[in-house]
Amino acid sequence: MRAQRLQGLGASVFTEMDNLKLELQAQGKDLINLSIGSPDRAPSLDVRKVLSDAVMDGSQYGYTLTRGTKEFRESCTNWYQQRFGVRLDSETEVLPLMGSQDGLAHIFLALIDPGEMALIPDPGYPIYTAGLVLAGGQKVSLPLLEENNFLPKLDDVDPEVARKTKLMILNYPNNPTAAVASLEFFNQVVKFAQTYDIVVCHDVAYSELAFDGYRPISFLQSEEAKAVGVEFHSLSKTYNFAGARLGFVVGNAEIIEALSELKSNIDYGVFGPVLKAGSYALNTHQPQVEETRATYQKRRDVWIQGCAEAGWKMSIPKGSMFIWAPVPTKQDSLTFAIELAREAGVIVVPGVGFGEHGEGFVRIALVQEEDVLREAVRRVQEFLSRKD
Ligand SMILES: Cc1ncc(COP(=O)(O)O)c(C=O)c1O
Repeated sequence: MRAQRLQGLGASVFTEMDNLKLELQAQGKDLINLSIGSPDRAPSLDVRKVLSDAVMDGSQYGYTLTRGTKEFRESCTNWYQQRFGVRLDSETEVLPLMGSQDGLAHIFLALIDPGEMALIPDPGYPIYTAGLVLAGGQKVSLPLLEENNFLPKLDDVDPEVARKTKLMILNYPNNPTAAVASLEFFNQVVKFAQTYDIVVCHDVAYSELAFDGYRPISFLQSEEAKAVGVEFHSLSKTYNFAGARLGFVVGNAEIIEALSELKSNIDYGVFGPVLKAGSYALNTHQPQVEETRATYQKRRDVWIQGCAEAGWKMSIPKGSMFIWAPVPTKQDSLTFAIELAREAGVIVVPGVGFGEHGEGFVRIALVQEEDVLREAVRRVQEFLSRKD
């Protein structure tokens, strides 16, 4: 009954961890879930007030259509100008999304014909592979290795393959490795894309979650980037909008037009009140984002210091809401994650779930309050002490 294409979706590792979680919950085990990157906070009260006022406004219930409102598109382009110094046309170079996932899943259908190739980071956020599979495209893995600071080595891509490649995905600050990218790296990407005529899609969902004064840059800050690509933004993490589903894509007008045309056959646009609240957050909320950053930074430090005390050392991330930690035992990442869940009740994601190059690592999402994280750390310490 099910279409063949569904078979290529989803890694079995995630299913296995989900089943384990259900089994442990059924046994009444007290679990601390550090697996899903879903923010545990809500948008601040004033943002919710704008949302609720708009919800009560009877004029807000029509279709907004794919392009959304001018008000929201202009908030995006103004924010871009202020944050990155990048000028964008609010009519042709920005499109609202029902979360960045909407755009990342559909961009392949808009640009890739069956059999065409795309370069996908490994390890990488699973939707990239899923979107490509749904479009019938062919995946070429772009390994992200620790020795290269989890940046792809573009020189290592076979020129024959590069010539056949239509699209590449990048994501910095990165999920799951938490790595960040420099302007110099993006300059190399633009050159590579121009040489081989490849569309670059940069997922920058974590642009505002960065620590110790570091500020991630936009791919579009690289000269001529707009000629080769687009950048996907999310309000989910920056403003805790995850369930309200709001993001946007900016950059190359032709790519945006293709995605817009596809989406106009699929949806009728984001709910007006959500667009209004998103505009308000983008226009006024930069000081509050500082608080969000501080919260994640503190959580990061609690986890890293606590694990170091147990002899588990890991890199200190400059951005994202994740820690990418080497498996501290001689086990593979799935076996370690299963044991940690069974014995300590702490749920993390085995790195192999994000691709074969994720093996040897686990991903910890900093999505619990500090006191809960302290308890998780205490359990990890106890667990590791039994392993000596
Ligand atoms: C790297 C990355 N991109 C995109 C998304 C999707 O975000 P959104 O809620 O905007 O669809 C996530 C969500 O966790 C993510 O980690």
